[in-house]
Amino acid sequence: MYRILTRCRACQGPIKQVVSLGHSPLANSLTATRDEAMSLPRFPLNLCSCEQCGFVQLDIAIESRVLFEHYVYVTPNARSLEAHYESLVAALDAFPYKAKPLAEMRVVEMGSNNGAFLRAIRSRVRSVVGIEPAKNIAEQANLDGIPTIPEFFTEQSVEDLREKVGPVDMFVARHCMAHLDDLPGTLRAISKMLADDGIAVIENAYLRSTLGGTQLDQIYHEHMSYFALRSLSRLMLSCGLQVQHAHVAGVHGGSIVVIASKRGGPVTSDHDNVWNEEELLDEELHQFAFRTHAAIGGLRESVRHLLSQGFDIHTYGATAKGNTLLNAIGLSSDEIPFAVDSTPLKQGRYLPGSGVLVISEQDAARKQPDIYLLTAWNYAEEIMGKQTAFREAGGRFLVPLPFPRLIGKR
Ligand code: TMP
Ligand code: ZN
Repeated sequence: MYRILTRCRACQGPIKQVVSLGHSPLANSLTATRDEAMSLPRFPLNLCSCEQCGFVQLDIAIESRVLFEHYVYVTPNARSLEAHYESLVAALDAFPYKAKPLAEMRVVEMGSNNGAFLRAIRSRVRSVVGIEPAKNIAEQANLDGIPTIPEFFTEQSVEDLREKVGPVDMFVARHCMAHLDDLPGTLRAISKMLADDGIAVIENAYLRSTLGGTQLDQIYHEHMSYFALRSLSRLMLSCGLQVQHAHVAGVHGGSIVVIASKRGGPVTSDHDNVWNEEELLDEELHQFAFRTHAAIGGLRESVRHLLSQGFDIHTYGATAKGNTLLNAIGLSSDEIPFAVDSTPLKQGRYLPGSGVLVISEQDAARKQPDIYLLTAWNYAEEIMGKQTAFREAGGRFLVPLPFPRLIGKR
């Protein structure tokens, strides 16, 4: 069900620990009862880096079938995501080293979830197809008009998939590479799916944003790998893909987008800027480890202080990030009874390790706390915008990272 890594997933070099978050249950394993949530198995959560190639990763890999069997993550409807899709399409349109214009491209996306990105790009390209392992979510995407193949994309399934969809002009993988143990195999498979002049577009949470924002809650078992341009480029090159462009976008706390091709060629000036800024990554990792301990201690004290003053606290967003945070701080439903979340699949279930009950935004409107701990801080704008009545009535938001901040009037 899992394996412990002693060697780097990218280059097989030796790995060393950067920081440990102790033991945690799987962050998306919401349960039907509180007892189940409290007795889930816990696994070590240690961030490590490779001494040979610098690739940052966990030293444990949970089998993907365990992680994704009952997948509850559905891409939320959020204005910030729509805006990101638009700017990503604009960046792809502007990428100067592609062989064909967007309008002629056959686009395939792996881990396409409910098809949100493909829907955004569909009218600009020749065709779109999604590949999504969560059968329930793939089925919904098909019903909503985005052709989606309900399968895992792996080196083993690639021949069959290429047969089904033909050579691809643009292969997209957004926020799914971190979930794969066999990263080199998947990258080789992407290279096989591509037409000779095709491009691969890969987007992931950016390591330097995670480090700079002390986003320790990005560290959970589903996130086996943490991406920076230099180490990713090296790995991709060994798998037949040369990175020609990179930029950092604001979504999910800071995400790196890379564009690569099989043929290779010149690189953009944005690529060089990102590359140059990674000079001090080792030192940033070291600082992050130090700040992580301070952030956990500070947040624990802040929450305890507010509770001791008689304030009720619920969390906003039943996020994987939030579960990492609650477990790292050691908070449970004894302190925080409810987590609000707009995803129907999560509602009525209990958060792993903390036993907090997830309720809908409609139910939350009827039992509002004094303070929401904003565990979906990546959607701060949307959520605070939605909750103006709560704020006008004196409700406040506790933004947890990089250090605790209370927002709202008393
Ligand atoms: P994510 O950070 O992994 O994308 O998860 C965000 C979670 O926040 C997701 O479960 C949906 C939830 N959410 C709300 O409950 N209300 C909102 O307005 C938004 C944008 C997200
Ligand atoms: Zn390595």
